[in-house]
Amino acid sequence: MGFGLWAPAITVVIAVTVGLVGFVLLKDGELPTLQENQFWGPASRKAAGKEDKSIRSFQINISEKVVTDLKTRLKLEIASVDERVADPLDGVAFQWGVHKKFLKKVQDYWLNKYDWRARETLLNKYPNFKTTISGLEIHFQHVKPQKKGKKGTRALLLLHGWPGSFVEYQKLIPQLVEPKDSEINFELVIPSLPGFGFSEASSRAGLGPPEIAQIMRTLMLRLGHQKFYVQGGDWGSMIAGDMATIYKDNILGAHMSMCFSFHPRSILKFGAALALPQFLLDDDDRAQFSPLMRVITNHIRETGYLHLQATKSDTLGIALSYSPSGLASYILEKFSFWTDENSLAKEDGGILKTFDLDTLLDNVMIHWVGKSSTTFLRIYAETLNPLTSTQLSLDSVPTSVPVSCRNYPKELLAQPRFALTDKFQNLVRFTRAKTGGHFSALEVPTDLAADIVTSLNLIDVSYRIDIDVD
Ligand SMILES: *[C@@H]1O[C@H](CO)[C@@H](O)[C@H](O)[C@H]1NC(C)=O
Repeated sequence: MGFGLWAPAITVVIAVTVGLVGFVLLKDGELPTLQENQFWGPASRKAAGKEDKSIRSFQINISEKVVTDLKTRLKLEIASVDERVADPLDGVAFQWGVHKKFLKKVQDYWLNKYDWRARETLLNKYPNFKTTISGLEIHFQHVKPQKKGKKGTRALLLLHGWPGSFVEYQKLIPQLVEPKDSEINFELVIPSLPGFGFSEASSRAGLGPPEIAQIMRTLMLRLGHQKFYVQGGDWGSMIAGDMATIYKDNILGAHMSMCFSFHPRSILKFGAALALPQFLLDDDDRAQFSPLMRVITNHIRETGYLHLQATKSDTLGIALSYSPSGLASYILEKFSFWTDENSLAKEDGGILKTFDLDTLLDNVMIHWVGKSSTTFLRIYAETLNPLTSTQLSLDSVPTSVPVSCRNYPKELLAQPRFALTDKFQNLVRFTRAKTGGHFSALEVPTDLAADIVTSLNLIDVSYRIDIDVD
């Protein structure tokens, strides 16, 4: 038989095969069954019996011993910095990471100008609490408005990421509780993620974003909120997306500053857009997601930390746990490139003109005094380990909960709108900020707060106006 007869048959077979493979690999996933009532605390606590479900008032008041110990370490590190730490290469700024000149500035400020007791007072300005959930002591701030908005008050859960903490949200609080130009006021709940700062870390493996989502839902239910909004950046975005996926009956809507969908169809679309930007992207998207070589180079250069934290978190954690200068360097480095990829050649990595060092050190302090320098790394392993992660099977499950995305042009991990909708099927709003990077809550708090307020008002009016959720 001639090729002329075979060709259509082969084409049909190939098309059907590709179609079938595509259908299996790219179709929506089913919601995985999450184990209920998991216990993440130490076994001895489980043996002790019933969980204390009380909400306990908590003051940040670090003992003098810990503060003195920190100063002693810093003094030692400063005294030996020239003996121990290599000089930067000639003409090199942040391209090789944090360099000694910047480190010396940070050390000097931290020891001689930074006033922890004053900062502690600031961090205690909004009420702090702890409660025990699934065996873990969970810290959170809880800020209620003085009065209801015109259309009432909604609860809003604000979720930070890595290497952040609840510190990131302090500037947003006054702009969110009783916002101008808003029909609703917000009752804010700002937790520390498990293993971050004052929230206890899990005693066993398996506490990834979906399991954290379970804990966060329990926290909101315990505070009396059956229905609430959720907002997040970085890991907070992923957990917010997970909550919207798993708990659509509880989540009124989600707002994210790092919108990214790992749904296989989204990844395929995003890959196609990166490869063919001239056909698949508009001007704004092209500025953010092309040329391809830039995207790939940035990705390879800036994600080593992720691989390390996903595989050898505890070795790295030892170094960070012993040395305040090491911990500060490791954390602060991220505020350079993640805020602006063009800032590596600047002497200070562009950090000091964008952020105030007091706030950046507050965030470092939370992990130092909270002794979370190892445990805050582990979320990478818990998400990316294919043997234990439930996140990986949740990525392909779409959600119908209304979602709003604020796209910051220098965000580390972002996607064009058309790639997001396979996961977020009810993407009611997608807006682009003119400026801003990964740490938008610290860099452009007014912009972020305004977009949260506008988005949640929009969702409230369009979808939920008839339900009483106060
Ligand atoms: C902090 O704790 C110390 C004792 O541990 C106590 O003397 C001090 O009053 C506390 N400060 C605040 C603001 O509660």
